[in-house]
Amino acid sequence: MINIAILASGNGTNAQQISEYFAGSDKVCVKCIIYNRKDAYVAERAKNLGIPAHYFSRKDFYENGSVMQYLKEQQIDWVILAGFLWLVPEDMLAAYPDHIINIHPALLPNYGGKGMYGHHVHEAVIANHEKESGITIHIVDNRYDCGTTLFQAKCTLTDEDTPDTLAEKIHLLEKAYFPMVIEKTVLG
Ligand code: GAR
Repeated sequence: MINIAILASGNGTNAQQISEYFAGSDKVCVKCIIYNRKDAYVAERAKNLGIPAHYFSRKDFYENGSVMQYLKEQQIDWVILAGFLWLVPEDMLAAYPDHIINIHPALLPNYGGKGMYGHHVHEAVIANHEKESGITIHIVDNRYDCGTTLFQAKCTLTDEDTPDTLAEKIHLLEKAYFPMVIEKTVLG
């Protein structure tokens, strides 16, 4: 069994979709969901899904090694960032070389980098009158939204689109592709 941990910061629709996708799998197991905002709705979703969820603070993540210790105890093989907004620390990158996957709601290298997440991305894309946007799934390195691209999918935009309607299109792409790309990647 390949064990994955999901890291999330907010609503958790991706975390839920990934968990549901692998629920009956005999190859991939979502062992835990880790979140870094006490009021993140993803905690509620994890409870409903029956998946252990743990809150970790910035200190746990960057200073005292608690998150790394937990991942080790849980025998985690792959780490999935699903709407997780902090930079991954060096000790985690070293423990999981090329085994951390992120999803970004735009066609990287455009609209990436610090501060470019969620709605901020969609607002910038709409403000620039882009004709298309999409999702990028990539391996994580020590920079925001860089690292080898595993997969991209596009959606088209019209003049009527708003950040909200774009967000809906992006969520549909995430639902359609993220769990499948994770599966293909972790199973090699
Ligand atoms: C998703 O759209 C994800 O692509 C994005 O945050 C959203 C989280 O939604 N991630 C980033 O912007 C990372 N830079 P969710 O919590 O409902 O899965």
